[in-house]
Amino acid sequence: MQKIVLATALVISATFGVMARADVENPAVMARMDAMKTIGGSLKTLGDMAKGAVAFDAAAANAALDAVEQKAAAVPALFEAQETDPESEAKPEIWTNWEDFVAKSKALEMAAAGATITDQASIGAAMGALGGTCKACHSDYRM
Ligand code: HEC
Repeated sequence: MQKIVLATALVISATFGVMARADVENPAVMARMDAMKTIGGSLKTLGDMAKGAVAFDAAAANAALDAVEQKAAAVPALFEAQETDPESEAKPEIWTNWEDFVAKSKALEMAAAGATITDQASIGAAMGALGGTCKACHSDYRM
């Protein structure tokens, strides 16, 4: 059980930005983890811009939002089959509460679609909107 505190946008990027699993055997599990990693990487890009570690770039920031939207849209298809792997952190409740899981992935997709970043100051609000949906799903469906 992971305790993830999403107090600020910066914590979000620090929490999700750098995780890698090399020893996953099931390619279907790898594929869904890769989608999550892309989502996490996009949040890290935004977090780096928010804190000024990377220069603000509106096109890159909105491309990160687009990537999140696209991967979120793919989440139901990537998780639909109940695939397992010793490395997986997916809880079995995903498949017993499937409609809720899909609704939570839709919430992320909609948050990313609805967010627009115009300047560095607007990154935090966008990340907050996205981050709430990560937490809502992870707290129920990720170990
Ligand atoms: C609809 C549910 C859902 C949403 C929304 C969601 N996640 Fe996930 N995420 C999962 C599940 C389930 C796993 C575990 C998958 C596994 O290990 O098989 C996971 C795993 C991850 C991982 C680890 C990937 C790996 O390599 O093991 C990262 C990073 C991640 N999510 C980031 C995010 C971020 C950032 C957001 C929000 C912007 C987000 N997720 C939104 C369900 C979700």
